[in-house]
Order: sequence, then C-alpha cells, then structure tokens
Amino acid sequence: MTKQLSIVSIAGARPNFMKIGPLAKALAHYPSVEHRLVHTGQHYDQNMSDLFFRDLGLPKPWRNLEVGSGNHATQTAEIMTRFDRVMEEAPADLVVVVGDVNSTIACALVAAKRGIPVAHVEAGLRSYDRSMPEEINRLLTDAISDVLLVSEPSGVDNLRREGVPDDRVHLVGNVMIDTLLSSREKARTSMIHATLGIAHGAYGVVTLHRPSNVDDPAVMRELVGVLGEIARSLPLVFPVHPRTSARLKSQGVELRREAGFLVTDPLGYLDFLALMEGARIILTDSGGIQEEACILEVPCLTLRENTERPVTVSSGWNDLVGRDPEKIRGAAKRALSGQTSAKSRPALWDGRAGERIAEILVRRYGS
Ligand code: UD1
Repeated sequence: MTKQLSIVSIAGARPNFMKIGPLAKALAHYPSVEHRLVHTGQHYDQNMSDLFFRDLGLPKPWRNLEVGSGNHATQTAEIMTRFDRVMEEAPADLVVVVGDVNSTIACALVAAKRGIPVAHVEAGLRSYDRSMPEEINRLLTDAISDVLLVSEPSGVDNLRREGVPDDRVHLVGNVMIDTLLSSREKARTSMIHATLGIAHGAYGVVTLHRPSNVDDPAVMRELVGVLGEIARSLPLVFPVHPRTSARLKSQGVELRREAGFLVTDPLGYLDFLALMEGARIILTDSGGIQEEACILEVPCLTLRENTERPVTVSSGWNDLVGRDPEKIRGAAKRALSGQTSAKSRPALWDGRAGERIAEILVRRYGS
C-alpha cells in the first residue's frame, strides 16, 4: 500500500490565494496525497480574502489561524505561535508556502524548526532592495526551504549565485498565470464595467499599496499628482487597498470622479481580472499585476525603482518607471500612443505550473 503523503499549504494574504488554487487542484489528482489548507488570517476582510475563495473555488481552509493585522514582528510572531500549535497537534510530511508575505516566512520557519521539509513556490525572486519587507521574507524563506519552485529564469540564476544546489531548484512556471488562464472565460461574464459605467478600452487601472509609495505623504502626493494628469484624458479605475485608503484619508487626499478617478474598494479576483483585460494601461506597484499584464497583453507601468520579476520587463509588457513624474508621464504617453517594442510571453507561463509542482512534490516526498 502506498503511504499517504500529508501536505499542508499556507495562504495568508490576498496575493497568496491565486497561487494556492492551481496547486490544490493538481494535488487532488493524487489519491496518495492528503492536502490541508491553512489560512493564517493575515488578510481577513471580505474583499481581501472571502471574495477570493468564492471567485477561485478554493477549498475551505482546514484551519484559519485568524491572526489579523499587526506590525511585522507581532504579525509574524503570532502566525508562528499559532501555526506551531497546529503542527504539534496534526503534523505534516511537507509544508508548502507561496510568495513573499509575512505568512510565508512565519510558517516556513515553524516547519523548518520542526524538521518538516518546506517547499517554496515562487522561489528565487530578488529585487535586491532590502528596504522591502517582502525581500527579507523571500531571502529567508529560500534559505530554509528544501525545494525551490521557480517561476522565471532570473530566480534560478539568483539561487545558483546564493549557492543553492541545482537539484533543489526547479523552474516550473507561474502558478498565478495558471489561475489567470483558467479564470479568463469566467471573468468575461463580470458586470464590473456596467457597474462602474465604463467601456472596454476606455480607461486605465491603478493599484498602489507599497509602503515606499504610500507611507511617505510627499511621495504619495507626488504620485497622485501625476496620476491626476493622466486621469484628465483617460479615466483611471483605482481599487484602493486598505493601507492606501488609510493614508489617503489621513492626508485628506480625495480622488474625485470629476477629476477622472473611479475609486472602488478592493475588488474580487474575477472583477479585477475583467477590469485589467479591458484596460489600455495599468499603473501599479504590485508584484503579481506586472506578471498578469504580460499575459493579458496590456502595457504596464510599474511605479517602483526595481522589480523582482525582470522577465516582465524583457517580455516587453512592463516598463519600470519608478516614481519620477517626468518618467511616468513620458512612459504613459508612449504606451497610450501604441509605441511598442517587441513582445513575448515568458517561458512556461502556460497554465500548467501547478501540475508540474504537484508532480515534483509527489516524486520527491511520496513513497
Ligand atoms: C501584504 C504583503 C504584501 C502584499 C500585500 C497585498 C507582507 C509583508 N506584505 O501587505 O507583500 O503585496 O499584502 O495586499 O506580508 N488590512 C485590512 N484588511 C485586511 C488586511 C489588511 O484592513 O484584510 C489593513 C490593516 O490595517 C493592515 C494594513 O491593511 O495594517 C496592511 O496589511 P498587511 O497584511 O500588514 O500588509 P499589506 O500592506 O496588505
């Protein structure tokens, strides 16, 4: 009889949910695998979490640790304490973590200390900017993971440079793109355009939530200023992250419809996908949206000085414009006038990354 392989996977914050879905689906094809999903509760609002479970048809979490918000130390420590208790009660043979959020490092650390192997999905990405909390999470998670599942070639190079043996590193493609490709048809039935009163191809989409862009009032005001200039000729739909919403409110900044801004609460996955697909341009500081834009073939301006996802730039769809208003203005003008460079789709972003990962994990850890 084949031994059961007990796998616990971790999802905590919004960008994790679309990465767990394809893996859960692929693992369900292996009768020898018992898969339990743990939600840490890092994100807990209806529209930062519940909507994603509904839209993506994710399995109901086996446990929700309900940690909620807090500063980095508190949040990370609280996740560790609660996840450790869970692993004490009901251990696993393998813990799978995804991405780079506080839930990722917290659960990887608990597993590693307990001698449970850790698999990291989206390993190897580096912005080389340690002022980003996510960069610290990425470095530390990779350092204690046993198997590193990488979405783009730069990740393989980075891990090799850091001395990770080749037999632990697998280039598998991008699980988030699995979700995008399998959700695209369904997203086309979204009513978001009618709800917002906008037509396909007649607007841009903005998201901003990085501390480096929204926590410093001067930086935030400058960005809002240049976005306002663009919004005068092209309405900008702006689903506002809770962090950004709090900062805008405390600074008394209002983004008005008459000024070209269509502000919404954070949207569910399908509505947001539909919005991106119909956009002429996307302006963002998100990691994942840079990747999604490449597949949706919408020009993306990344409002950051660096990216841990350089393949999005070499694919021709992403322009790293930073925070300089002059650069943002110029790049927006070029993108909107259709001045384009050669474009390509990153290798292995084909909708099958989840299957590849499941196959590798079962081969390595199943018996
Ligand atoms: C986290 C991730 C970031 C990811 C982002 C996507 C880390 C270090 N950062 O950042 O990589 O891109 O999620 O959203 O893990 N809040 C709510 N409701 C929620 C969740 C958060 O109101 O459901 C508010 C809280 O006031 C909280 C703030 O948003 O203090 C920030 O949330 P937090 O999870 O700490 O980090 P994010 O900025 O969301």
